[in-house]
Amino acid sequence: MVSPPDTSKTTKLERYNSYLRKVNSSSSTKIVTSTSKILFRTTLLTAVVMILFFTINHPSLSIATTRRPRSLLSSPSFGGAAWEKQVRKSSTPRSPTGISVLVTGAGGFVGSHCSLALRKRGDGVLGLDNFNSYYDPSLKRSRQQLLLKNGIFIVDGDINNSGLLKKLFDMVPFTHILHLAAQAGVRYAMKNPQSYIHSNIAGFVNLLEVAAKHADPQPAIVWASSSSVYGLNTANPFSESHRTDRPASLYAATKKAGEEIAHTYNHIYGLSLTGLRFFTVYGPWGRPDMAYFFFTKDILNGKTITVFRSAEGQKDVARDFTYIDDVVKGCLGALDTAEKSTGVPGGGKKRGPAQLRVYNLGNTSPVPVSKLVSILENLLSSKAKKNIVRMPANGDVPYTHANVSLAHHDFGYKPTTDLTSGLRKFVKWYVGYYGIHLKSESSDGIKDV
Ligand SMILES: *[C@@H]1O[C@H](CO)[C@@H](O)[C@H](O)[C@H]1NC(C)=O
Ligand SMILES: *[C@@H]1O[C@H](CO)[C@@H](O)[C@H](O)[C@H]1NC(C)=O
Repeated sequence: MVSPPDTSKTTKLERYNSYLRKVNSSSSTKIVTSTSKILFRTTLLTAVVMILFFTINHPSLSIATTRRPRSLLSSPSFGGAAWEKQVRKSSTPRSPTGISVLVTGAGGFVGSHCSLALRKRGDGVLGLDNFNSYYDPSLKRSRQQLLLKNGIFIVDGDINNSGLLKKLFDMVPFTHILHLAAQAGVRYAMKNPQSYIHSNIAGFVNLLEVAAKHADPQPAIVWASSSSVYGLNTANPFSESHRTDRPASLYAATKKAGEEIAHTYNHIYGLSLTGLRFFTVYGPWGRPDMAYFFFTKDILNGKTITVFRSAEGQKDVARDFTYIDDVVKGCLGALDTAEKSTGVPGGGKKRGPAQLRVYNLGNTSPVPVSKLVSILENLLSSKAKKNIVRMPANGDVPYTHANVSLAHHDFGYKPTTDLTSGLRKFVKWYVGYYGIHLKSESSDGIKDV
């Protein structure tokens, strides 16, 4: 069935249209139309201004949306009066001559030790760490607790988050950044290459961008490069002037890239930048992914350890093991001799050349890995079950040996801890932290250290 056309509606519409035509032709209604246009635009403008105002005053909202998914352990929340109070309190120096340092990777091994040392001498320290799960995050959380007890607050966040970094620099006029956050480990790079790009390249550039263009004043930056940049270099001992263009791992390549990126930001924006090439740092609160750490664990558990030997005719596989307290002194020395950045905050032209430095921080005495194992066997009163294999070419270099005369000349760096004394302190911490009772009195006297 077809319904009849609704004539009443059609006529009504026609009448209305003709009415509109008439109205539009009259000049008086032109004014009405333009007035309503102005009214509409004003309303729109007000709305935009209000949205902008809201966003600027609540940067935590924009940060929350850019944050990456994280582990259950973390409970990040940026902003809020209590959070801001903690940030300011932690960053404020207690000594009148103290500096104010943002320490990235403060939940890490070197980061936590440096933070404590800075705080102890009266500097303001704010930590930043994303507490990722590359290794057991509960160890990082324990370090965080230790720092908190000493008045150091660690912000739970990623260096790749520019909104968060800007907020921190808006709140605190940091004089220095000690940038230690990184994706470490040479063999893990084959498993998860992107994490090296994320932290060591993208994260570093993000930090430099904020330091160069947003921070006022521009801070001086001391950051962790690595002895791995020497790669396949065979000249010994390694000096800062040696070749670093043959990295043996992606980790090394990202650290080498960091040194070149540092050059760029120094050149363009006048950032004061100091890179520290660490040589196998070890000690209490160390990293579980390092050989001395997991050898200790495995020896205590009666598990076989894999010990690398080098190819025939080459030097023993050896490392220039450097004790944490020596490295901390080097980091503080680098911070104390860092000159101010010369750039104009906001990213303008630099006022003059700024400092650009690179230093080896090593121990200057390489120890064969076989010797490391025998020292541990002594300290733990346990014989290691060893599986000796030839070192595969998957990131590790056979030999490292630092020449530290430059760091000694410029800030008196002088390592004083030999491997046996340092490992004794490490083992003492290890058994205490993990609640382990050594079978018998250690031949090296762990129990009465
Ligand atoms: C962080 O880094 C990654 C690269 O890993 C990049 O794609 C991303 O846009 C960066 N920014 C944030 C806020 O995560
Ligand atoms: C160590 O490096 C310095 C330069 O910093 C150099 O003058 C010296 O010869 C080097 N020492 C050795 C043993 O290579």
